[in-house]
Amino acid sequence: MKKTIAVLPGDGIGKEVTQGAVSVLQAVGERFGHQFTFTFASIGGGAIDALGTPLPDETIEVCKKSDAVLLGAVGGPKWDGLPGHLRPEKGLLRIRKELNLYANLRPVSYYAATAETSPLRPEIIAGADMLVVRELTGGLYFGKPSERSTRDGEESVVDTLFYKKKEIERVIRLAFQLADTRRKKVTSVDKANVLESSRVWRETAEEIAREYPEVTLEHMLVDNAAMQLIKNPKQFDVLVTENMFGDILSDEASVLTGSLGMLPSASISEGGPYLYEPIHGSAPDIEGKNIANPIAMILSAAMMLRTSFGLEAEAEAIENAVEQVLESGLKTSDIALNGQKPIGTAEMIEEIKATI
Ligand code: NAI
Ligand code: MG
Repeated sequence: MKKTIAVLPGDGIGKEVTQGAVSVLQAVGERFGHQFTFTFASIGGGAIDALGTPLPDETIEVCKKSDAVLLGAVGGPKWDGLPGHLRPEKGLLRIRKELNLYANLRPVSYYAATAETSPLRPEIIAGADMLVVRELTGGLYFGKPSERSTRDGEESVVDTLFYKKKEIERVIRLAFQLADTRRKKVTSVDKANVLESSRVWRETAEEIAREYPEVTLEHMLVDNAAMQLIKNPKQFDVLVTENMFGDILSDEASVLTGSLGMLPSASISEGGPYLYEPIHGSAPDIEGKNIANPIAMILSAAMMLRTSFGLEAEAEAIENAVEQVLESGLKTSDIALNGQKPIGTAEMIEEIKATI
């Protein structure tokens, strides 16, 4: 198979970890006989320094022409003083918009080898394996009006939770498609006891569920979902929810299994390339020290192989290699136990490559 991949390393440890993902993908290409072509492009602080903009047009072109996009992370204290439209994070928001990425997928998987880094007791978190699907382009974060005003002579403010029915359908359908390839359960999270938008969300979930007779649908109120994630995370397979609930719950879910350095994500579009990135940022505090954990980025590459290219065995080869290396006791410092000598970023990348 021949595929083109846009690589946007970004800033800080983004550069270190994307280098790892690229070399792991090359190893997979060699082993399975695929040809992956990488085109590097700039985004974030580095792009501001070189070209005066956090997202050059050329980068957008490269992404749109590619089969998938790998992104490191952007930002750092160097650019903190810049005005809003010139900040590295603006590049991130804009690339999401340019590629019309309407859903964010965060798998949260348990690794026995890193269980001690979880804030939950082992018997609660052991075996947890869920996928959080967050709607990314609608809801409260984009609804109009969003403004300060005067109502009945009083200082007031309004934000608007707005969705087109089609936007709700498309993200819920995606959740069902994904659940169909997993343990066949969708938990749709809403606040239907209070919000009209949530009642439409719930009705829509019921409608889509009829298209997927094999998949079980359950509804859960968002406040209960926040508790259930901590009390009994193993009950979840695919959890789907609107933008703001998803923002909060996906962050909560992401810390259940331990280190930020372990978790990948994918953002899905209609028709265009999908974008894959670790959930962590550019970690300027550890930049250039060869201590960043490259696994979140490498697992993002595995998600790309599975989700964008349908290469299941190849994705599993990466995931199994990661698990084997961890089980052999090799860890970067964020997941190493007290007293254990950690290995560096470059060594971790080499170990995973060699195992593949
Ligand atoms: P961060 O995720 O960069 O770091 C938080 C903490 O986790 C730090 O102590 C860092 O050293 C550690 N950490 C993160 N990734 C790690 C890894 N792979 N291995 C080992 N340790 C790791 O979040 P923070 O510090 O809030 O933000 C730093 C910069 O990154 C800011 O400029 C922020 O705007 C940006 N950022 C960018 C994101 C993106 O590009 N998607 C997402 C989050 C933050
Ligand atoms: Mg957030």
